[in-house]
Amino acid sequence: MISIHTITNPSTLQFRPKRPSRKPPKTLAPIHALLQYNRKPQLAGDTPRVVVITSGKGGVGKTTTTANIGLSLARLGFSAVAIDADVGLRNLDLLLGLENRVNYTVVEVLNGDCRLDQALVRDKRWSNFELLCISKPRSKLPLGFGGKALIWLVDALKNREEGPPDFILIDCPAGIDAGFITAITPANEAVLVTTPDITSLRDADRVTGLLECDGIRDIKMIVNRVRTDMIKGEDMMSVLDVQEMLGLPLLGVIPEDTEVIRSTNRGYPLVLNKPPALAGLAFEQAAWRLVEQDSMKAVMVEEEPKKRGFFSFFGG
Ligand SMILES: Nc1ncnc2c1ncn2[C@@H]1O[C@H](COP(=O)(O)OP(=O)(O)OP(=O)(O)O)[C@@H](O)[C@H]1O
Ligand SMILES: [Mg+2]
Repeated sequence: MISIHTITNPSTLQFRPKRPSRKPPKTLAPIHALLQYNRKPQLAGDTPRVVVITSGKGGVGKTTTTANIGLSLARLGFSAVAIDADVGLRNLDLLLGLENRVNYTVVEVLNGDCRLDQALVRDKRWSNFELLCISKPRSKLPLGFGGKALIWLVDALKNREEGPPDFILIDCPAGIDAGFITAITPANEAVLVTTPDITSLRDADRVTGLLECDGIRDIKMIVNRVRTDMIKGEDMMSVLDVQEMLGLPLLGVIPEDTEVIRSTNRGYPLVLNKPPALAGLAFEQAAWRLVEQDSMKAVMVEEEPKKRGFFSFFGG
């Protein structure tokens, strides 16, 4: 027997009794999803939307998310600047394959050694996407560099001659120390990346509290590295479990996919792959929802697992 939970408001999610009589037809979710993504998303909110991509725990996929959502936004026709705020351990430039084009960083801009537009690296594949690095690799955070400097930077991007970008994405460092505080300071909204394991969830919960204390109320989560085979074997928490634990709206569910590792090593973001990889499609859908400030109406299918693939999770 199949039981389906349709999640409309994850923040108030409760365990629900199974109601087989209200079960939608099996084909509804995929058709709905296809129709929804066959149109251009409507940009919600005031621009530029300043979004910090954070997690608490390291290595869960913040930089991967920043690169792929950033380029997806550009492909959807929106302008985006991705700021690598992981000072000293920056790697967004590597994931984007732009490492050889970073000549100047924000540190040089603040020192008056170059102009802001010289530090912005425009992607040749999608010219409405630009990268900005805070500092050179392995360098230390300059004394006095903090949230105020990042606010100045965001203001400078807003006041550029060519107009403000639609999105400013900030790739946050792991942890909750000074680098984290600096990265979240100018943000109005946050994307919290977590993996479905207890250590990542505990850190994500702590970070959610800190974001809320900082006045960031619009927090959506991406559950990364999901393995349906392990969920079916009850060796991994389901996305529904993660939602119930964190109580956050769901922006996307990204499967564990070897293509992610391949694309990381090639410096060629997954969403540019042709044909698209499964994780790439999932990042595109997450970007689509980010534009509309929408969250996922997840459809979780339990039991009868072998007949269904990863997209059983998606209700569009
Ligand atoms: N969905 C996925 N499937 C497989 N591998 C993934 C997936 N997401 C991320 N990875 C891999 O996990 C590693 C860490 O990813 P990433 O650098 O994006 O994490 P991070 O949170 O930015 O790390 P840090 O905290 O060090 O900044 C990378 O090697 C990446 O390729
Ligand atoms: Mg990172």
